[in-house]
Amino acid sequence: MALVDGPRRPSTNDAQAWRAPKAVVMVTRPMAPHSDLELSPALDADTDRLGDVLSHAFGFPRDEASLWFERAGIENLRVLKRGGVLRGGLVEIPMGQWFGGRSVTMMGVAGVGVVPEERGRGVAAHMMVSMLREARARGFALSTLYPASVTLYRRAGYERAGARFAISFDPRMLDLPRVPEVTVGEVSGTPEDVVALYGATAPRFPGYIDRGPYVWTRVSKPRGHVTKTFTVSHGGALEGYVVVSHAMGGADTSVLVTDLAATTSRAARAILRLLAEYRSLATVVKWHGGPSDLFTNLLPERHHTVSITDSFMLRIVDVARALSLRGWPRGAGGSLTLEVDDASMPENSGLYAVTLEGGRATVATGRAAAGAPRAKLTERGLAALYAGHAPAHVLADAGWLEADDAARVLLDAWFAGAYPSMRDFF
Ligand SMILES: CC(C)(COP(=O)(O)OP(=O)(O)OC[C@H]1O[C@@H](n2cnc3c(N)ncnc32)[C@H](O)[C@@H]1OP(=O)(O)O)[C@@H](O)C(=O)NCCC(=O)NCCS
Repeated sequence: MALVDGPRRPSTNDAQAWRAPKAVVMVTRPMAPHSDLELSPALDADTDRLGDVLSHAFGFPRDEASLWFERAGIENLRVLKRGGVLRGGLVEIPMGQWFGGRSVTMMGVAGVGVVPEERGRGVAAHMMVSMLREARARGFALSTLYPASVTLYRRAGYERAGARFAISFDPRMLDLPRVPEVTVGEVSGTPEDVVALYGATAPRFPGYIDRGPYVWTRVSKPRGHVTKTFTVSHGGALEGYVVVSHAMGGADTSVLVTDLAATTSRAARAILRLLAEYRSLATVVKWHGGPSDLFTNLLPERHHTVSITDSFMLRIVDVARALSLRGWPRGAGGSLTLEVDDASMPENSGLYAVTLEGGRATVATGRAAAGAPRAKLTERGLAALYAGHAPAHVLADAGWLEADDAARVLLDAWFAGAYPSMRDFF
């Protein structure tokens, strides 16, 4: 959304403007003191017990833990101990996330687990905040995860910030024409030009992952599936690719696409046609991404479904860094004072003077921007706003943001964009 009307004065027929700003609601329940719990990098000697704890926590076969840890990297495993005894753990996935066309350092988190006898006492919340402090010290601006429990992660300052959509169609139902001008071929592994093509297209989608090796492995070797990668070229230049797995289920089969991207319409249409070539047996073709995905837009007719499979939650780990690193709409400008109140990481609380120009932000901490509109918000309100998941008036009604009309207009212009989404799960 472009900033077209600037700050407005309230008028008698503007109900929104006359509504008194709600007080910002703080979650203040003190966490149980857990000073005897320590989160630290896993030692080789810890991985056996961690595999035991996490396989029980998530209900997967114990012998699958070692492959998972190997893919994640032993250096990314964290163990929570009390008196040297392992009580829980998690897996860190260092990567980036695209916002405003720029990659922002992001710590992905998976495999959060606590032994059953320790649950319900704030142990996981304590572990999450310890993990976030370490990530902040290492220079991470954001943290993102797919929650099994929203309440738990809200206690650590995460908020819902976007979603992973499933887009599916029955290949027998759609007429997808051949695209003879391109060449389609199978390639082995994940070639560098495929990685580069992902890197050229993903920044356009807010929330997409700037992938590291762990997520790339999930693309090519998803659990329980065997994939093939096909590229689409024109005149010798790569214009698209698709990573496909084909699996039997009763009399029918299904095609699961773990990744697809294209830089031209002809490549995207050729990929859709390739997927339709499974129609003699397949009754469903499915991929994940956003609702305004290029491929979804090119589907003819209404015989497809778009649904949310998972919401993701975002945590602003370092407010100044998160605002400085992301990109912004080029047409947005002006200055704002943000007053952040962070319940679980008070090191983020305080004033931020933010000025936008040419798609970049200048951020000064600890002071107001002279004469600029002011917004007061919680760390969770900021997370939802930052991603573009919710507009200012929704966050104000939720009690997570307090801002007058002039500040809300600026916030909505600054954080505007496509709905935040992810292709990947982790
Ligand atoms: C989820 C899990 C890590 C929570 O551990 P825990 O130590 O009991 O969590 P905490 O005591 O720190 O909980 C913090 C808050 O989240 C809430 N919470 C925790 N788990 C919850 C759940 N499954 N559903 C709803 N609320 C939950 C707690 O009630 C508490 O809320 P409160 O502060 O309002 O009292 C633990 O139950 C577990 O290991 N589960 C199996 C693996 C799993 O599901 N991991 C999460 C993957 S994303």
